Amino acid sequence: MTRTFSAAAAAELKTILDDFPNKKSALLMVLRLVEREFGMIDDGGMELTAATCEVSVAHVLGMVSFYTHFKRPFHGKHRFMVCATLMCSIGGPNGRCDQSLAVIQRKLGISPGECTFDGLFSVEKVECLADCNRPPVIQKDNDHHVNMTDSLLEELIDSLLTKEGKSAVDYSSQKGTPMNARIPSISVKQSVPRP
Ligand code: FES
Repeated sequence: MTRTFSAAAAAELKTILDDFPNKKSALLMVLRLVEREFGMIDDGGMELTAATCEVSVAHVLGMVSFYTHFKRPFHGKHRFMVCATLMCSIGGPNGRCDQSLAVIQRKLGISPGECTFDGLFSVEKVECLADCNRPPVIQKDNDHHVNMTDSLLEELIDSLLTKEGKSAVDYSSQKGTPMNARIPSISVKQSVPRP
């Protein structure tokens, strides 16, 4: 799918590119712009990024798959990232990461690496989210939550369910889908002619 930037995004892109010595070095910033503009980075977004930064799509894919924070098509609409590094595994007075994962499993029927059957929710264990003194730490989409208790997490999930017109009952008898099964075929065609 051929993608183009909106006029507002094109203006922002110009500012970004002006800040870097060459287009290739602006790649991460351009990816963030593509993510904001289209809500995720899919094949079309990678191709647009590759053309913008004058690199191959394979190069963009390498960047997007290394920096796992980018929103991809196989993530749920609402993406839970639960820190499972040492301090959140040990936990604190408010709980541990495995308790948070258990709440998500109980309410939404998904384990780490899975998406709900309707694509609305997904959950992943992630590495340190840089708030180690306030465990457990969770990110939901772009929201950062620290000292997450089971009851606060339940409230957060309930508010999302309400917003989506769903209830936990909708997920109680459903199995999660492995997110890898949702990866579309990815084009790695060379978008920039080799010299
Ligand atoms: S170990 Fe969880 S935020 Fe650092």
